[in-house]
Amino acid sequence: MTVRPLTKSDVGFLTCACKDFPDAWNEEMLLSAFRAGNFYGFIAEEKTDGKITPVGFITFSMHVDTADLEDLFVEKTFRGQGIGKALIIKFIESAAKNGAKTLFLEVRESNFVAEKLYLSMGFSKLSVRKKYYFDGENAVVLKKEL
Ligand SMILES: CC(C)(COP(=O)(O)OP(=O)(O)OC[C@H]1O[C@@H](n2cnc3c(N)ncnc32)[C@H](O)[C@@H]1OP(=O)(O)O)[C@@H](O)C(=O)NCCC(=O)NCCS
Repeated sequence: MTVRPLTKSDVGFLTCACKDFPDAWNEEMLLSAFRAGNFYGFIAEEKTDGKITPVGFITFSMHVDTADLEDLFVEKTFRGQGIGKALIIKFIESAAKNGAKTLFLEVRESNFVAEKLYLSMGFSKLSVRKKYYFDGENAVVLKKEL
């Protein structure tokens, strides 16, 4: 598995990979984020039969000395192999290099797999945002000081 920076040409993969993941950003949101100029990310790729295929991604925005994790996704058949963790490490390193002192993210209260992963990477619970998601589910806000 290799990880490379996200580019605008990855928008197709991001929207397609997440077609069953309703919280993911749509094409319009992604293109608008690219235009804003403070939007970054990484793509995880696997080589199968000599062909390089994207299998996961992480996106984040930078706001002076804070960074917000926007989306993290790994294709179902590639989960549980450390790809999510590798993408979070790249996010932390890159945000730190770009001047972030604090990282934030929101995760669904029911998303125990993702929450456990973030907690294992040094994030801690900050607060709960009531009815944050479109279906009324609460979000847990997590924070990491660098
Ligand atoms: C969350 C997600 C990105 C994790 O990706 P992943 O590549 O499977 O993660 P990793 O393989 O790096 O797993 C790291 C840790 O997550 C936890 N984890 C991963 N898969 C798990 C599973 N099926 N059950 C329980 N814990 C799991 C474990 O703590 C694991 O650490 P360990 O292997 O040392 O025990 C992936 O499940 C996903 O894309 N989910 C759908 C989208 C989503 O929920 N994104 C988060 C939005 S906030």
